[in-house]
Amino acid sequence: MGMSGIIVENMKSIIEKLGKPYFKDENFFLYHGNSLELLKEIPEGSVDMIFADPPYNLSNGGFTVHAGKRVSVNKGNWDKSKGFEADFAFQKEWIELCHPTLQLNGTLWVSGTYHSIYQCGCALQSAGYHILNDISWYKPNASPNLSGRYFTASHETLIWARKEKNGKHTFNYKHMREGEWPEDMLKRRGKQMRSVWAINTPQVWEKKFGKHPTQKPFNVLKRVILASTNKGDLVLDPFTGSSTTGLSAYAFGRSFIGIDTEKEYLDLSIQRFKEFQGRFRNQLEFHKNYTSVE
Ligand SMILES: C[S@@+](CC[C@H](N)C(=O)[O-])C[C@H]1O[C@@H](n2cnc3c(N)ncnc32)[C@H](O)[C@@H]1O
Repeated sequence: MGMSGIIVENMKSIIEKLGKPYFKDENFFLYHGNSLELLKEIPEGSVDMIFADPPYNLSNGGFTVHAGKRVSVNKGNWDKSKGFEADFAFQKEWIELCHPTLQLNGTLWVSGTYHSIYQCGCALQSAGYHILNDISWYKPNASPNLSGRYFTASHETLIWARKEKNGKHTFNYKHMREGEWPEDMLKRRGKQMRSVWAINTPQVWEKKFGKHPTQKPFNVLKRVILASTNKGDLVLDPFTGSSTTGLSAYAFGRSFIGIDTEKEYLDLSIQRFKEFQGRFRNQLEFHKNYTSVE
């Protein structure tokens, strides 16, 4: 629980079990593989917080608008629906596999849209997690819809749950209330942090090396990490993609393990990590902005 000695031991035992990482630098580890297999290898109680952004199963041939153009919604084979029962079974399986990996007071975040989030919420409850919040991440700059037959989708839901019903999870209440959150159009200074977060989609600097089709903005993960972990904690992302979770964990002094089936995304993660690391080493001002917040 945030004690670096314990974390080092935890990391050691995880690495022994998972084998050679695809990439490792400082406390940032990436594994290439299927989380349904690798999660079984992670020793019990070794992880402080999990952030998971699983496939939404919405890549089934539809269209949307991006920068004024009609584009396919297909994100990749990993995002194709295999039908309701199979999709639900997948969400259930990884959510159940995460449970033993968490320490007693550990928490799990799951993000998704209506395509997947209700299945995930149901799976969380049936696996014995205790739901703490459902956050609406409102995207003020969301793309318009094409057909004009529906409301324009402009939010995602993040469910935050604790491993057990009884427990004492980390919530950095004071920092959430008093901190500076210029990226949020709704947060008022000195007021409690509410469950609706108004944060734009990823900015230009976040797409420097190309972008993952479902890349999360750094600012959403910044809030998740600062709210629910302490320095030195171990954060796991079983669907790491371009590793936005990992960059935020690194920025705020947490250890990170990310897993993905696609090498292409791990390579993008590595490029993003190296550039981020360079900024820390070279730009004092950047360093100060991201480390003086706690
Ligand atoms: C919604 S994306 C995550 C995007 C990420 N949050 C980011 O900011 O870039 C889901 C990711 O899960 C990966 N994935 C799908 N099934 C997987 C599995 N069984 N094990 C590990 N990764 C998987 C996909 O390759 C994809 O990169």
